[in-house]
Amino acid sequence: MAGAERVLDVLDAPTEIRNSRDAETLQNIQGEVAFDHVSFSYGESVPVLKDVSFICKPGEMLALVGPTGVGKTTLTQLISRFYEPTSGRILLDGHDIRDVTVESLRRCISPVLQDTFLFNGTIAENIGYAVPDASMEEIEAAAKAANIHEDIQMMPDGYQTQVGERGLRLSGGQTQRIAIARAILRKSPVIILDEATASVDVETEQQIQKAIASVTGSRTIIAIAHRLSTIRNADQILVIENGSITEHGTHEELIALGGSYARMNRIQNNTDQDTGKPV
Ligand SMILES: Nc1ncnc2c1ncn2[C@@H]1O[C@H](COP(=O)(O)OP(=O)(O)OP(=O)(O)O)[C@@H](O)[C@H]1O
Ligand SMILES: [Mg+2]
Repeated sequence: MAGAERVLDVLDAPTEIRNSRDAETLQNIQGEVAFDHVSFSYGESVPVLKDVSFICKPGEMLALVGPTGVGKTTLTQLISRFYEPTSGRILLDGHDIRDVTVESLRRCISPVLQDTFLFNGTIAENIGYAVPDASMEEIEAAAKAANIHEDIQMMPDGYQTQVGERGLRLSGGQTQRIAIARAILRKSPVIILDEATASVDVETEQQIQKAIASVTGSRTIIAIAHRLSTIRNADQILVIENGSITEHGTHEELIALGGSYARMNRIQNNTDQDTGKPV
């Protein structure tokens, strides 16, 4: 529990972001995320995001793709209000996120980050830290849904196996599935997935995909993917280049468009130029 508290301290660390005076507490959020002409820059430097607009309906999966450094992670951090847009608005179920308490906003969002970290403690504690009264049954159910239960059972002490700096070291894919289990257990309406790297092996990728599939439809998922196969079934795909949305549509639509997405897809899959199907 001490470990869990330290994690929460880090997550809740005060930033320059403050609640506005009449901030309301979000309740019964369905998970609609909207960007309304959002621009953003770190400090005085050149803008990272320029006039980004989209609406992601509750339960939809929205995917962000684009070259490294274009602002994908930054975009997702704006949703949790780690930074404020320079202009434009971000809305959750129609509430401007500046008008709600930061605590209630972040309760609605579960991040599965590029480098999720496990604190020193057991696997069960690592899955359940945000839900202190979670039962073992609930923790196991979340682990099953996140497709990590079988891995845990193979570990020396199962759910009581110590992980973290001095404990068992997990693979990147296992860590990511632990983070997905956390997100499932928290029941937050919005899950943000920042895929670790394009270099995960095919088996790991399939396991993560299965974990994601178990939550699609019930939560809003905003996913940053390097491997396009992860997001083929996304309801919307945004291609971000130079801080702006340059393409927006489904996998099929963007393949038909024949632009950057189609090109990335071709490079990754060695696919047929006309049909987008693997050759
Ligand atoms: N805290 C920060 N302060 C200043 N600049 C930053 C900060 N974080 C990111 N940047 C810059 O903002 C730009 C966008 O970074 P971001 O991490 O959002 O890119 P990304 O699309 O997620 O890249 P990747 O695919 O490599 O994860 C980059 O030029 C980066 O150097
Ligand atoms: Mg990133």
